[in-house]
Amino acid sequence: MCGIVGIVGKEPVAERLVDALRRLEYRGYDSAGVATIHDGTMERRRAEGKLFNLEKVLDGEPLPGTIGIAHTRWATHGVPNVTNAHPHFVEGVAVVHNGIIENFSELKEELIAEGAVFESQTDTEVVAHLLAKYTREGLDHQAAMLAMLNRVHGAYALVVMFADDAGTIMAARSGPPLAVGHGKGEMFLGSDAIALSPFTNEITYLVDGDCAVLTAKGAKIMDFSGRPVTRKSQISQAATFLVDKGNHRHFMEKEIYEQPEIISHALSHYVDFAENVVKQPDAAIDFGSVSGLAISACGTAYLSGLVGKYWFERYARLPVEIDVASEFRYREIPLSKSQAALFISQSGETADTLASLRYCKDEGLKIGAIVNVKESTIARESDAIFPILAGPEIGVASTKAFTCQLAVLAALSIAAGRARGTITAEGERAMVKHLVEMPRIMSRVLNEVQPQIEALSREIARFKDVLYLGRGTSFPLAMEGALKLKEISYIHAEGYAAGELKHGPIALIDENMPVIVIAPHDRFFEKTVSNMQEVAARGGKIIFITDERGAAASKLETMATIVLPNVDEIISPMIFALPIQLLAYHTAVFMGTDVDQPRNLAKSVTVE
Ligand code: AGP
Repeated sequence: MCGIVGIVGKEPVAERLVDALRRLEYRGYDSAGVATIHDGTMERRRAEGKLFNLEKVLDGEPLPGTIGIAHTRWATHGVPNVTNAHPHFVEGVAVVHNGIIENFSELKEELIAEGAVFESQTDTEVVAHLLAKYTREGLDHQAAMLAMLNRVHGAYALVVMFADDAGTIMAARSGPPLAVGHGKGEMFLGSDAIALSPFTNEITYLVDGDCAVLTAKGAKIMDFSGRPVTRKSQISQAATFLVDKGNHRHFMEKEIYEQPEIISHALSHYVDFAENVVKQPDAAIDFGSVSGLAISACGTAYLSGLVGKYWFERYARLPVEIDVASEFRYREIPLSKSQAALFISQSGETADTLASLRYCKDEGLKIGAIVNVKESTIARESDAIFPILAGPEIGVASTKAFTCQLAVLAALSIAAGRARGTITAEGERAMVKHLVEMPRIMSRVLNEVQPQIEALSREIARFKDVLYLGRGTSFPLAMEGALKLKEISYIHAEGYAAGELKHGPIALIDENMPVIVIAPHDRFFEKTVSNMQEVAARGGKIIFITDERGAAASKLETMATIVLPNVDEIISPMIFALPIQLLAYHTAVFMGTDVDQPRNLAKSVTVE
């Protein structure tokens, strides 16, 4: 993920900005830059690679000025080089950006048609050109900022400076985080409170849809229509944590809410956003020639693998043998060297998963690891590493790692389909476009369903048993919802294939066990509605998680209906994961359990 810092102050800022960027290095980056304004002149210094390189440039050509912005870039659009490094300059406007501008291609075409000359391959540069255009057309800086914000789509955090105003920094958030730091006679901006901890611990976190105008005296915050909004400030504990909870009560809540930003970062490793295609995966596994896949993992990682099974089989026509690692390693499955094996593990240290990996290695299969820790044991013993780039996941209950695992599996199944000729170039572009829209849709869902789910969680907390149902890729999601609820609220929960209801679980149905039905309006929808009618006929209480089409199609009486946007099947598991994560989280908070470290659980099970 990119890192952003800004200071409007009273002493030289260049070195302070680079020091603040150093505290954001954990986010990962491949180039960096800083810009300041001094005596009416705005200048920048940029460098490829690590901050050390930027410091060398600054030593040779120091940057004066008491106002500035700085950035560490994780390349999404365009290679990691100096030309693509931020800040981007256009006619006295400087911009740094974290996230994805989804409609940058059409904006770029429109701006080029009006005579704009682009120097970089980045999506960010369209923001600088738009601001320059509106300023040329006579809008003041705030009006130009708001006009730009109402043109760009996507998940982004933006920080802007204008050369002719050495007292103001502007910022906007729609997805990736931005924090305002309150100093004495100076103000700060950062991607999180860690970056700002040496300057101040008084922090105001911007929320999606906020635009902030900072001067040395303070910050004015408004929505994208210019209407003033009030945001509370708080004393951050960031200085005492390597990883900061931000303005959240638990790491789990923070990790749920950072998924839009995290997933765009993970996707950028696998997707070419400009061409809307999947980049060629690690060649150690040739999905075009393998005869099949074996997948093994534990817990939530196993459930993401189960979703992946549906995708590999449907989109790449690849048969998948999958099992939980504790069973897989003892089944002595007859495997062939023509197959490849994928092991999914957030920690990369789970003992059973590692043992299954070693079994497949002994059988001569090519080994792929979908991991969050690239230097972990499972990664080190694999032929191919597919990093999920979710950043440190502190909450024991896995959330952002799950959706990032799904994003990687979606990208790999598309690449496998392309390699095997089962997905056309047009089909690939359409599916990748859905992946690119995911961060924005995730932001919207998290903001829209939160109040309803928090209220519903108080109902769920009254019950001792809960049943989750789903079909297709919603079946593993039903199991993941049950796992999330049971592991942090200690309420017994089971996830079942909805079609299995009549083969036993229906005997459990009565008013004492809510049934949570996960059903986007896909090809299984009608059949799942029939299952809901069977539940309702026996006095069962239904919580219906569906989309707009599903809510319009079903007239069934429910305890609650949670309505998500209509989305394509390739991203519905990631979108529908959000309400089940939030429901488990709020139920546990209401019940007062230890959300981040539930009883009896460890974050990584390194023993059998
Ligand atoms: C999920 O919320 C649990 N924390 C647990 O099931 C976890 O997914 C499992 O232990 C696997 O861990 P890993 O991904 O680190 O291998």
